[in-house]
Amino acid sequence: MSTNLKKIFHKGFQNLFIIIYYSFFCGEFKDCQMKKIILFASGSGSNAENIIKFFQQKKTAEVVAVFSNNANAKVLEKASNLQVATYVFTEEELNSGKVLQKTNEFRPDLIVLAGFLWKFPEDIVATYPNKIVNIHPALLPKYGGKGMYGMNVHKTVLENKDSHSGISIHFVNENYDEGAMIFQADVLVENCTTAEEIAVKVQELEHIHFPEVIEKLIK
Ligand code: GRF
Repeated sequence: MSTNLKKIFHKGFQNLFIIIYYSFFCGEFKDCQMKKIILFASGSGSNAENIIKFFQQKKTAEVVAVFSNNANAKVLEKASNLQVATYVFTEEELNSGKVLQKTNEFRPDLIVLAGFLWKFPEDIVATYPNKIVNIHPALLPKYGGKGMYGMNVHKTVLENKDSHSGISIHFVNENYDEGAMIFQADVLVENCTTAEEIAVKVQELEHIHFPEVIEKLIK
């Protein structure tokens, strides 16, 4: 065998060894490099879309699936258009362990609730401690809890004539909007005359900060 041929064989074995080594320890190459995010969303999914696009430009993480309780939610269309897998479930499936099982199949590093309206089940919370985050469109502890979502929040801010509103990104525990705070940002709303105007300002903050906060958490 010529020296060149020997070199080629030698290099080939070396590469094979590296592939086997990484496959064994990491499952697959991608797992080593990219962290995995599952998004839960119930509605229009502007945050979900923004997060998917943000990570499609990065090598730090990727959104591997969007889970929704609402088969008609616009977020599903947005995810599919961006080639992200989707999964729709019922309340029974959420609370019977089926959604936990499906979640585990993706081996997520982080679960992100981006406009998910149902109470998050305890089995998923217990399986992923400090790995589930939620965004709330107000400055918690103000305007949190059951029924405080979407325009309800912004209407209350307007009625109370608050000078500022904002966003809260927090870990998820067993109670609505009560997990440890990760990040807050505020915006002046004293000149807003409608709840819709407040919603626009708050959404701007969400789109600016949510992906970056997720990236810091997952690194
Ligand atoms: C956001 O305002 C978020 O704070 C709240 O639900 C809303 C979702 O909006 N949890 P979108 O569906 O991402 O547009």
